[in-house]
Amino acid sequence: MILVTGATGQLGQRIVQRLAARLPHAGAGQIAVSVRDPARAAQLAARGIDVRQGNFDDIDTLATAFSGIDRLVLISTDGPKNVRIAQHRNAIEGAREAGVKHIFYTSFQDAAENSPSEFAQVHAATESVLATCGIAHTILRNGLYADFLPMTLAAALQTGVLRLPAGTGKVSFISRNELAEAIAAAALAPRLEKRLYELTGQTSHDFAEIVAKLGAATGKSLRYEAIGEDEYAQLLEQAQWPAWLARAMATMYTAASENRFARCSNDFAALIGHPPKSIDCLLAEFFRAP
Ligand SMILES: NC(=O)c1ccc[n+]([C@@H]2O[C@H](COP(=O)([O-])OP(=O)(O)OC[C@H]3O[C@@H](n4cnc5c(N)ncnc54)[C@H](OP(=O)(O)O)[C@@H]3O)[C@@H](O)[C@H]2O)c1
Repeated sequence: MILVTGATGQLGQRIVQRLAARLPHAGAGQIAVSVRDPARAAQLAARGIDVRQGNFDDIDTLATAFSGIDRLVLISTDGPKNVRIAQHRNAIEGAREAGVKHIFYTSFQDAAENSPSEFAQVHAATESVLATCGIAHTILRNGLYADFLPMTLAAALQTGVLRLPAGTGKVSFISRNELAEAIAAAALAPRLEKRLYELTGQTSHDFAEIVAKLGAATGKSLRYEAIGEDEYAQLLEQAQWPAWLARAMATMYTAASENRFARCSNDFAALIGHPPKSIDCLLAEFFRAP
């Protein structure tokens, strides 16, 4: 039995869909999910998926939620850094108590302790917990979601200027749908060649290139202006983002300015059998006219 955590979240629900598409009887009797609120997963239960309650803040729920599970797809949570690290630690401890045989962890392309990105630091800390947990595991380091480009570029489409603290750093964007496809393939593979997969886009681009491409596609005159980390965090706070998230986003773009999301790996193609979508294809997908 394979279990996906966070199955009422955006990535988790897509992974469950992809697992169901790959398994006989749409995965009925073979897929379980753990969610904080089972009422939100009623549609999954109706399709024969075993819905369990599990909250990473409450370690006592997890050994039960993960009991009888061979393969656990552990979706990283969101929230402030120390909260997330504690949640991931609880999930891994719950898996150990439940006797889970293999964990597939959705990490981050820039998982490094010395990264300026808080998100990266969370994932580096979790990967360290995994390294010593005694459970076989596969790390799936996700590139930046292309799905967030519309939100990132919304103001620029109004004002003509994209302001980010990303310098001239390049990013190899990939979509959630593609990540879900690759993660499901990895989780069902009878054997994997590697312990760590880096799931990135096909090519990497700086934000000046991205706005130029979007400008050409939309007929708008757009330009990119690199700003400082503090200025960007302040802009987000003024737009009512929580302070921790504003800072975490700003530090993520600082990491981008250091080209920490620029690598393009062949791991997606190795798992799926074809390359990920090009940036032009992703821009067409996410900025399609309504
Ligand atoms: N690579 C990237 O660019 C990128 C961007 C954004 C996020 N991420 C990471 O990727 C993860 C998945 O992305 P997403 O788009 O699916 O985000 P999402 O829709 O916000 O999903 C987050 C999931 O985490 C679950 N969760 C939160 N706190 C939890 C807890 N205490 N116990 C158990 N589950 C908990 C949520 O459960 P509920 O459904 O109950 O709320 C939700 O299912 C995020 O959580 C974040 O770590 C990566």
